Amino acid sequence: MNRILDPSLLGDDFIWGVSSSAYQTEGAHLTDGKGLSIWDVFTETQQRKIKDRSSAVIACDFYNRYEEDIRLLKQTGIPHFRFSLSWPRILPQGTGDINTKGIDYYNRVIDYCLAQGITPWVTLYHWDLPYALEQQGGWTNRAIVEWFAHYVQVCWKAFGDRVKHWMVLNEPMVFVGAGYFLGVHAPGRMGMKNFLPAIHHAVLCMAEGGRILRRLDPEATIGTTFSCSYIEPYRSSERDVRAAQKVDTLLNRIFLEPILGLGYPTADLKPLQDIKSYMKPGDESRMAFPFDFIGIQNYTREIVRHSWWTPYLQAKLVSPAHRKVPYTQMNWEVFPDALYEMIKQFSSYKGIPDIYITENGAAFEDPDHPELILDYHRKEYLQQHIAQLFRAKAEGFPVKGYFVWTWTDNFEWAEGYIPKFGLVKTDRKTQKRVLKESGRWYGEFIQGEITEITEP
Ligand code: GAL
Repeated sequence: MNRILDPSLLGDDFIWGVSSSAYQTEGAHLTDGKGLSIWDVFTETQQRKIKDRSSAVIACDFYNRYEEDIRLLKQTGIPHFRFSLSWPRILPQGTGDINTKGIDYYNRVIDYCLAQGITPWVTLYHWDLPYALEQQGGWTNRAIVEWFAHYVQVCWKAFGDRVKHWMVLNEPMVFVGAGYFLGVHAPGRMGMKNFLPAIHHAVLCMAEGGRILRRLDPEATIGTTFSCSYIEPYRSSERDVRAAQKVDTLLNRIFLEPILGLGYPTADLKPLQDIKSYMKPGDESRMAFPFDFIGIQNYTREIVRHSWWTPYLQAKLVSPAHRKVPYTQMNWEVFPDALYEMIKQFSSYKGIPDIYITENGAAFEDPDHPELILDYHRKEYLQQHIAQLFRAKAEGFPVKGYFVWTWTDNFEWAEGYIPKFGLVKTDRKTQKRVLKESGRWYGEFIQGEITEITEP
C-alpha cells in the first residue's frame, strides 16, 4: 500500500527535531575544569565492556565544533535540537563549586542555537553522573535527591532565561538497569541491592526536578523521557504471555506509573516488592509529578518467551535473527508499528499529557563514500516510523513532536563507535561532517515536501 506523508496533516504546532547527548558528542572530557563522570571512569577502567574498546575523550568534538553542527542543522532545515548538559562540566564534584567555564560553554551553545533560529530542548541528565557522587554511592544513595535538586537549580539559574523546554531525566530504566543491575553500563554495578534503591531515587529525582523547574518557571514546558519497547509473547501459551507481561512491566511501567501517581507496579513484578524498604513516609506522593509532556523513546519491539533459567523474570527475548526478521546494527528488529503501539499504550493512562517522540532512529552500516552517503535503509526506517505518527495522530493520540536519534554519528555507550545512528556522518579521524541522504530527506520533508512511501 502506498501512503502519502504530508507534514502539514500533523498540525501547525507539530515540531520536528534531532536528539543528542553531552557524553556521546562533546569530548573535551577534562577541558576547562570539567570533572570526571562515571562514563569517563568506566571507559577507562572497564574498557573490555566497550565493544571496540573506545572512549568518548574526543567523541564528535562537539565542545569545539558546536557552531558547525548547529549551522548544519539550520542549513538542513531542522528547527529543534535536543541535547543534554553534563553535570560534571557544570559542577565538577557534583555539588559545591560551580565551574563557570562549563556554564559559559553551554551559554555559547544555547545562544548559538537561538541566533540560528533553533529551539534548544535541554535534558538535565543523560547518564554522565559526576564520578565524585558515584564514590558516595551514586544513584543508590538517597542524598542524590538533594544533589540533583541543587544541580537543577544551578542549571535553571544559568540558562532558564533562554531555555523554555526541559527534560529532567533520559531513560531512567536504561541507566539504572544497565548501570546498576546488569553492570554493562557505567558505573558497572550489579544486583538487586543496587538496582532497587537506584530505581527509587531516580523516580524521586525525576519528580523533584519537575517540581523545581515548575516553581522557578511556571511558563516553561517540562517533561521527562522514557525508553520503551512494544512487547509481545512468542506464543499464545499462558507461560509466554505471563513472561511478556513481566518484561512489559519491567521495561515500560516501572518509571512511568509512579510519576503518574500510580505507585510501583509491584503486583505484576514480584521482585520489585522489596523496593518498599527504600521508601520513606510521604514518598508515594513525592514520586508523582504532573509533567507537561512525556518523551517516548522507542526503537523496536521485543518478542518474549518463558525461560526457567532467567532469575527474577523467568523470561527471555527471542532475537530477530532467530525469527528471521530485519534488524539494525543494534540487533533491534525493524518494526515500525511499535512506535504507534507505544503511543497508544502510554495514552491509555488517565491524565497522560502531551507526548513527544524524543528519540527514534536506526543504526545501519553506511555505504563507504567520502561525499555521498546514500543511506536508504535509514531513510526508509524514518519514513516508516514517521508514517506511524500520522496513524497515531489520526486516532486522536496527543503526539506533538518527533526527534530523530541522532544528528552526528557518535559514541554509542557499550557499543562504542560501531553503530551509526547519525543523519550526519562523522569521520572519527578528521572530524569531517557529511550530511547523509536520510538527513537531506528529513530536512526537506519537515519543510513541507510531501513524500510518498510504500508500506511494508
Ligand atoms: C537511547 C539513549 C541514547 C542512544 C540511543 C540509541 O537509549 O538515550 O543515548 O544511545 O538509545 O541506542
